[in-house]
Amino acid sequence: MKIKIGNINILITETYREMSKKAASLVTAQVIIKPNSILGLATGSTPAGMYKEMVKIYNSDQVDYSEIKSFNLDEYYPIKKYNKQSYAYYMDQHLFKHINISNQHIFIPNGECEDVETECRAYDERIHILGGIDLQVLGIGVNGHIGFNEPDVHFESRTHMVTLDEDTIKANARFFPSKDEVPSRAISMGIRTIMDSKKILLLANGLGKAEIIHRTVFGEISPNVPASILQLHKDVTIILDKDAAEQVLNHAKCNEA
Ligand code: PGA
Repeated sequence: MKIKIGNINILITETYREMSKKAASLVTAQVIIKPNSILGLATGSTPAGMYKEMVKIYNSDQVDYSEIKSFNLDEYYPIKKYNKQSYAYYMDQHLFKHINISNQHIFIPNGECEDVETECRAYDERIHILGGIDLQVLGIGVNGHIGFNEPDVHFESRTHMVTLDEDTIKANARFFPSKDEVPSRAISMGIRTIMDSKKILLLANGLGKAEIIHRTVFGEISPNVPASILQLHKDVTIILDKDAAEQVLNHAKCNEA
C-alpha cells in the first residue's frame, strides 16, 4: 500500500521481510541505473534484512558495485575497527564482504582518529568533492534520531561528534555485553549532510517505532524530533512494516472518516 503525506512517499508492507525486499530492490535499482552512485548507508537492526536481500540480488543478478562509493552515517567514538560492535565491522559482515565494492570506495567515520574535528571536515569534504550522496538510507531511533543526531539537534549541522542520549545507549545496549560498554559518543553525519542527499530512503519496523513515525510524518518540524526535518526534503520514501505504520494508518483513516 502506498500513501503520500506532504512530500513524503510512504510504502506500507505486511512484514519486515517484505520491507527489506522493497528497500533492497530500490537500492539495487539505484546501483543499476547509475553504476558510479554514491550511497549513504545505515547500520542497526532495521537495515540488516535489506543488506541480506541486496546480497541475494547481487548473487543472482550479478549487480556490479565496482564503481559504487559508500559513506556510512555514523560510527561510535572511540572504537577500534576490528571491535565487533563497530559499525565498520557491521558493514563488512552484512554487506561489503559479500559484494564487489572496492575497499578504497568505502568510507565510514573513523572511530580510531585522534583529531575528530579534522576527520569530520574531511568526511564532508569528500562527499562534496565526489558530487554528493545519490541515495541515503536511514533507520530511525525511538527518540526520532537519524544517524546519531539526537533530539535538540541543530538542523544546520554537518558531520560532527555527538554525545549519545540515554535512550539510545539503552536501545543499543542489546548489541554489547553490557550497557556500560556502549560508547557514550559517536561521530555522525549532521542533518545538513543528510538533507543534502539527492534521495532519502527511511526504513522502520515494529510497533516500537509507530509513534515516532507518526510524529516524523505528521508532527511539527522540530529539533526535538530530528527526523521531522525530512518533511522538507524533496525526495523521501519511507518503507514501513504494518506495525510501524499503525499510527500513520489510524491518522489517515480518521481523516477520511
Ligand atoms: P535500529 O536502530 O535499526 O537498531 O532500531 C535505528 C537507529 O537507531 O537509527
